[in-house]
Amino acid sequence: MFVFEPVLLAVLVASTCVTAKTHTWNFTTGFVNANPDGVYERDDVIGLNGQWPLPVLEADKGDRIELYLTNGFEDYNTSLHFHGLFQNGTNSMDGPELITQCPIPPGETMLYNFTVDQVGAYWYHSHTAGQYGDGMRAAFIVHDGSDDDDFPYEYDEEFTFTISEWYHESSVDLIPNFMSRFNPTGAEPIPQNFLFNDTRNFTWNVEPSKTYKVNLINVGGFVSQYLWMEDHTFKVVQVDGVYTQPNETDMIYITVAQRYTVLIETKDDTSRNYALMQRVDDTMLDVIPKDLELNGTNYIVYNESAGLPEEYKVESLDIFLDDFWLEPLEAQEAYPDPDYQIVVDVAMDNLDDGVNYAFFNNLTYVAPKVPVLGTVFSAGEDAINPLVYGSNTNSFVLEKDEVIEIVLNNLDTGKHPFHLHGHVFQTVVRGPDYGEESTPVPYNASEAHDIPENPMRRDTVYVNPQSYFVIRFKADNPGVWFFHCHIEWHLDQGLALVLIEDPLSIQSQQNLDDNWKRMCEVNNMPYVGNAAANTENFLDLTDENVQVKNLPAGFTARGIVALVFSCIAGILGCVAIGLYGLAATDDNPVKLSQDLGIDEEFIQDETSSQLSHNGSKDTTEKTATELLN
Ligand code: C2O
Repeated sequence: MFVFEPVLLAVLVASTCVTAKTHTWNFTTGFVNANPDGVYERDDVIGLNGQWPLPVLEADKGDRIELYLTNGFEDYNTSLHFHGLFQNGTNSMDGPELITQCPIPPGETMLYNFTVDQVGAYWYHSHTAGQYGDGMRAAFIVHDGSDDDDFPYEYDEEFTFTISEWYHESSVDLIPNFMSRFNPTGAEPIPQNFLFNDTRNFTWNVEPSKTYKVNLINVGGFVSQYLWMEDHTFKVVQVDGVYTQPNETDMIYITVAQRYTVLIETKDDTSRNYALMQRVDDTMLDVIPKDLELNGTNYIVYNESAGLPEEYKVESLDIFLDDFWLEPLEAQEAYPDPDYQIVVDVAMDNLDDGVNYAFFNNLTYVAPKVPVLGTVFSAGEDAINPLVYGSNTNSFVLEKDEVIEIVLNNLDTGKHPFHLHGHVFQTVVRGPDYGEESTPVPYNASEAHDIPENPMRRDTVYVNPQSYFVIRFKADNPGVWFFHCHIEWHLDQGLALVLIEDPLSIQSQQNLDDNWKRMCEVNNMPYVGNAAANTENFLDLTDENVQVKNLPAGFTARGIVALVFSCIAGILGCVAIGLYGLAATDDNPVKLSQDLGIDEEFIQDETSSQLSHNGSKDTTEKTATELLN
């Protein structure tokens, strides 16, 4: 007995060592040429090691990842986030810049080094500026045991398909134009196309009488999409890495950052091929240009000689599966009344610089001077005081193992997909779509709400227009976790908050290595001190980063549009009178603008970008017409 036990132990240890692999990946970022929609070739798509699309990364549960990311850009910082991974014990590997790390400066390499303890479909993407919209994103698939042996459903083969929108312009140009006083309504840039697996009209070759496991991932940064198939169904079995009771549906709706793993059974007969359709949720677009194709047709091909199917239309998009009623396979009752409740109101509005920002409770997220995780490690006992994280970061400190409830009231008329790092949460309540017409309806806890017995758990969930959701989770993962709208434009506008979960356990159980510190040092960014980089007095926030001042009372986006145009119109009017006296009647605005030194294109561009969220289209067009007549 004394002899055997150590032997047995050794065998056990050896067998775990054998099964857990280490994946070492070396990637360097850089710009590549790519033309995924077949319409326009860009030379500034972000590739890794000169390649785009980026590789699908795969691992088994329990494997170790060592990803060396070298920043090969000359002028831009970068970072990498594994979306959906809990990073339990490895918060510094989570990726968002100035939350858990300093960005990686040009020429530097950061090692992302962690163990994967989850299964399912995830993705990896840059968490710097709009880089993932420029292509720096791809799927990350974690199998349940080697060869996915522990996956709870039978299947023959696995596929992973991504969907996304696509722009012909780089985020380097899109962001400053979007975050500009010339875009006071915050109209989001309209994509030029929508991709399926980084192409258009994708062909999926299938065999008859098979069950395919398909991971569907929206790796976009803006619009949700609907997916449906001709004469085939999706059986949803996993959502954001959480197994669900099988749920058969004809249509799926996927917001950006969400993942659905479905089983698709193929037919026995191979006489024809079928359409696999995608369609964007065009209610999320401010304007729909005439030439924008909202539908995409992809092909399920059984028989290459049988010809390709036509587009397959449906009468209504309302038949999509409502993820709110999905039930996790591993049941978990709704958490009882929370220990700590965070109530946030989402709104979009202008500040004094005329730019349109996004707010949680009137605060738009402004990055601190020190990465939040750096503040946690340097603040000692003060780390439990939310003040040290700054007054403009929307920071909340959570205590160990508390049940947290986030009540989110959406005062905006748009849909927003919210993502929490470090957790899946229970979706306890989601209010209906109140559309554009009514006034927003906030969550009212005293009303009866139909709370599911075994609520859906996921890491990204949308809130309906002018409505609300309530999510709950247990603070059992010490770390600094970002919670934000996954629409890139809205994150740029500051629609984010920061949860600092059990900071004293972070201090005692985790650490920051030299490679992590080097990213800050090379960037000349401090990594100790409070949000203002004060290391003496953590409660002194002098010189912290803060948001732009509020607009003087009474100014609205429409007011700014009106002001800008009446000023221009006023100047043009005076010039017109002057010119009228000097020349024959010439009221051509092109001529006027030339005489004024105003770029005529500027006038027209600004005009067309004013089409706003809330139907101020008419006013704007009228102003523009008046201006041009
Ligand atoms: Cu997909 Cu903050 O991330």
